[in-house]
Amino acid sequence: MTEAAPNESAAVSFRHVVRLEKVEMTFGKVQALSNVDFAVGRNEIVGLLGDNGAGKSTLIKIVSGVLRPTAGEIWVRDRLLNLDRYSVRKAHDLRIETVHQGQSLGEKQPLWRNLFVGRQITGRFGFIDVKKEKEIADQLLRRAIGFRGHGINSDSTVRDLSGGERQGIAIARAMYFEADLIVLDEPTTALAVSEVRKVLAFVEGVKAGGRACIYIEHNLAHVYEVADRLVILDRGTVVGQFAKGEITLADLTARMIALHEGRKHAGT
Ligand SMILES: Nc1ncnc2c1ncn2[C@@H]1O[C@H](COP(=O)(O)OP(=O)(O)O)[C@@H](O)[C@H]1O
Ligand SMILES: [Mg+2]
Repeated sequence: MTEAAPNESAAVSFRHVVRLEKVEMTFGKVQALSNVDFAVGRNEIVGLLGDNGAGKSTLIKIVSGVLRPTAGEIWVRDRLLNLDRYSVRKAHDLRIETVHQGQSLGEKQPLWRNLFVGRQITGRFGFIDVKKEKEIADQLLRRAIGFRGHGINSDSTVRDLSGGERQGIAIARAMYFEADLIVLDEPTTALAVSEVRKVLAFVEGVKAGGRACIYIEHNLAHVYEVADRLVILDRGTVVGQFAKGEITLADLTARMIALHEGRKHAGT
């Protein structure tokens, strides 16, 4: 039983793909989020910014059903969720796909396996439909991520891929599962510059494909380039929200530095 089956909700109009209202999250004595209002519109790319420990990963784990908030409400396509029944699985049913920070792919596994891990296509008797999975994987590799002419196909292993291409696999997976909202938590960490460009191109693909994205990225220039809107978290609170046209990259950078300095002086 799902509250909004994927196909049913596709036709219905909605304003926000996801919206958090007055969300709180505490871990013991740590208040990771307080009074957070946060929304992502249709086909909107939202850059989520903040220093280490600001609460970015916590926020997206709440969106993706990994963590249940201590208080507050979550709306998906303008429908209030029952948080007692929200889960990662339910988030998938609602077409929310997340690539978590440092999420790893199976290094030795062929790409087709990585694309379908945990979400196998099964035939009538419950057996995995390998042929179908490989076919779809090859299509995805060519179309969604443009791995044409690299000699890379569904039987290649993750080890054959560069860092940026690995992120591409994770994003392609989200695209295949028809996500309306793709959540990326620092996908470019530890990537070479040329690889970062690939990830940014994937994010642009998400936008062009009509989907929405929450993009957590520590490099301000990169996130500024692809985001429609920027939301700044500081110590668990939303301290600024800007449409890209409302703030220059230089002003954004100055703001982030000021927050960082303020934090240092506050001794946190
Ligand atoms: N599972 C957890 N248990 C205890 N504290 C946590 C847990 N997850 C996150 N925190 C704390 O919550 C705060 C926010 O963390 P996080 O959301 O990971 O920040 P960010 O992703 O912005 O770096 C930090 O103080 C962190 O130590
Ligand atoms: Mg994080």
